[in-house]
Amino acid sequence: MLKILFSREDIEGAVKGLALRIEQDFDNEKIIFICLLKGSFMFTSDLVRCIANPSRVDFIRVSSYGAGMTSKGTITITKDLEEDIAGENVVIVEDIIDSGLTLTYVTDMLRKRNPKSLKICALLDKRARREIEIEGDYVGFTIDDGFVVGYGIDFAEQYRNLPEIYVVESDDSCKTA
Ligand code: IMP
Ligand code: MG
Repeated sequence: MLKILFSREDIEGAVKGLALRIEQDFDNEKIIFICLLKGSFMFTSDLVRCIANPSRVDFIRVSSYGAGMTSKGTITITKDLEEDIAGENVVIVEDIIDSGLTLTYVTDMLRKRNPKSLKICALLDKRARREIEIEGDYVGFTIDDGFVVGYGIDFAEQYRNLPEIYVVESDDSCKTA
């Protein structure tokens, strides 16, 4: 069962707030936004539309082995960037920071390519679940533990198309409610 967590208006407000902060920090400098596929495709498309800086968008995809609701250690790149990021301002756009493993891997890898700056913009942060210390520079919402879907975020590839963000609740919790 899905329970609404953030409405379209909540999300729009958060995206605009993040965009404003990024615009202020980067003045009118060039930015390359890196959309971490697939979960952040919708977030990236809304975010970049609110930012007037001269920008480029590129895509990267990583997979973590282990199915289910958590990422499990081993991470590999399944689709690399096409842009050269050396000397560029880079903002990684991510849907959720959970254990921190994915972003730690991605930032370590991208830093080796010598960008001028490297920032993390995450819509959601499950800070309490962090296994590796890593902070988002721009975070939309900090949320509790719980599995979320919608607005690009999936469960087994489902629900990405929902315009709002929902928490997945097990049927058991419905029965006892
Ligand atoms: P981390 O490596 O543990 O930080 O995991 C981050 C990735 O796990 C996110 O980019 C998501 O793809 C996925 N993830 C973490 N929490 C959720 C969730 O609640 N719903 C869907 N995907 C999630
Ligand atoms: Mg993801």
